[in-house]
Amino acid sequence: MASPRGEFSSRFGFIMAAAGSAVGLGNIWGFPTQAASNGGAAFLLVYLVLAFTLAYPALMAELIIGRHAHANAASALRLISPNSGLRRIGTTTGVIGFIVASFILSFYAIVAGWMLAHCAAAVAELFRFDGLATWLTEFSLARNLGFMLVFMALTVGIISEGVQQGIERWSSRLMPMLLASLILLVVYVFTLDGAVDGLRVYLLPDFERALTPDLIVKALGAAFFSLSLGVGTMLIYGSYISDRENLPVVGGLVTLVDIFIAVLAGFLVLPAMYVALHNGVEIFTATGELISEDTLIFNVLPRLFDTMGLAGVLVGFVFFFLMSIAALTSSISMLEVPVAYTIEEHGVDRKRAVVVIGILIALASTVILLNFELLFGLVIAATTRYSQPLLGFMFCLYAGWVWRRDQLLQELRKGNAMVEHSLFWKIWPGYVRVVCPAIILLIFAQSLLG
Ligand code: TRP
Repeated sequence: MASPRGEFSSRFGFIMAAAGSAVGLGNIWGFPTQAASNGGAAFLLVYLVLAFTLAYPALMAELIIGRHAHANAASALRLISPNSGLRRIGTTTGVIGFIVASFILSFYAIVAGWMLAHCAAAVAELFRFDGLATWLTEFSLARNLGFMLVFMALTVGIISEGVQQGIERWSSRLMPMLLASLILLVVYVFTLDGAVDGLRVYLLPDFERALTPDLIVKALGAAFFSLSLGVGTMLIYGSYISDRENLPVVGGLVTLVDIFIAVLAGFLVLPAMYVALHNGVEIFTATGELISEDTLIFNVLPRLFDTMGLAGVLVGFVFFFLMSIAALTSSISMLEVPVAYTIEEHGVDRKRAVVVIGILIALASTVILLNFELLFGLVIAATTRYSQPLLGFMFCLYAGWVWRRDQLLQELRKGNAMVEHSLFWKIWPGYVRVVCPAIILLIFAQSLLG
C-alpha cells in the first residue's frame, strides 16, 4: 500500500494524457466505421447528443471520485461508501472494471497491431520489398499475432515507467502531431472525386434511423468507449491529477478534444470510402451492407494514399504511425487499470505487475486471434456495448447517491473556490444522480425489449 503514487506534472500534461487515453482507435477506427454502417448522419447526431449529455457527466463522476480517493477504482469506491454492504459492491464494481479493461485491451492490441503492420508496410514499400509489403497488409494469423505481441510489448514498456516519465511524456509529444496530420488528410481528401458523396452521407440525417433502439445502444457504447469510461481508466487518471485543477473545466476540455477528433476522423473516413468506391473498390455488398466492417479503414485508406503516388507512401506511413501512437496512448491507460489495482491492493512491485498482467492479456489476445470469427466481435460487443455503460451507471450511482454531497463539493472546491455558484454545480449533481442512470437503463431496457 505504501508505494509512492505518481502525479501529472502540469495541466497540459494531464489533458494530453487523458485526451491521449480518450483519443484512439475508437475515434478513428470505431466511430467512423460505425457511422458509415449505421446511417451516417443519424449515428453522428445520436452520438453527439449522448456524448455531451451522458458521457461527459459520467466522465466527471470518475474524475472527481478518482481525485478524491487518489486510488484505483476498487479502493476509491470503498472509500466513499458509508457502510460495509456498499463497500463490497464498490469493490466488486472496481474489480469487474479492471477485468473489462483487460478484455478491452485484448482486442484493442489486435487492431493496434494492424496499424503497426500497415506502418511497417509503408516502409517496406518505400524500399521496394513488395512481397513483404503485401504480407504486412494481408490478414494472416502470423502477422496478426506478431504485431499484437509487438504492440503489447510497447504498452508494457511505457507503463512500467510510471506516470510522468511514461504516460505523460509520450502523450504530450504525440497527440498534437496526430491532430495536425488528421487535418491535412481531411483537406486532401476533399480534393478528390467522390468525396462529396461521403460528406452527404455523413451530414444528412435520416431521422427514422436515428431513433431505433439498436442504433442508440451502439452510439452509447461508442461514446463510452471513446471517452474510456466505465472501467476505471478515467478514475485512475483523475487520481493522478493535482488538487489545484478545476475538474469540470479540465474534463470538459478532454471531452471536447475527444469528440472533435472523432467527428474530424469521420470527415476523413466517410469521404475516403466514397473516393475508393469512385475508384472501383467494392465496399458495399449488393444489399448495401458494408463489407468487412472491422477492416474497412485498412481497405479504404491505403487506396486513398495510393492516389497520391510516391508521396502517398510517405503519407501512409505518417498516418499509420500516428494511429499506432494514438492506440498506444490509449492502451497504456487500459493497462494502468489492472496494474494500479494490483500495486495498490496487493503491494506488488510495478514492474512485476506490469509484466505479469501484460502476458495474461497477450494470452487472451492470442485466444481471440485463434478463434477470430467467433470471438472478436463478441468480445467487443460484450465489453464496450454492454459492460461499459452498465459500469458507468454504477459510477454515477456512487457519485450521485452513495458519496456524501458535502464531501463531493469539498473535492470540487479544491480547484475552484467558487464552484458552488457555477452552472456545473447547479446541474451536474442532480443530473448524475437521476438523469444519467435513468437514461442508461432506459436505453438498455429498450434494446432488450426491441
Ligand atoms: N477511448 C479509447 C479510444 O477511443 C480507448 C480506451 C482507452 C478505452 N482506455 C479505455 C476504452 C478504457 C474503454 C475503456 O480508442
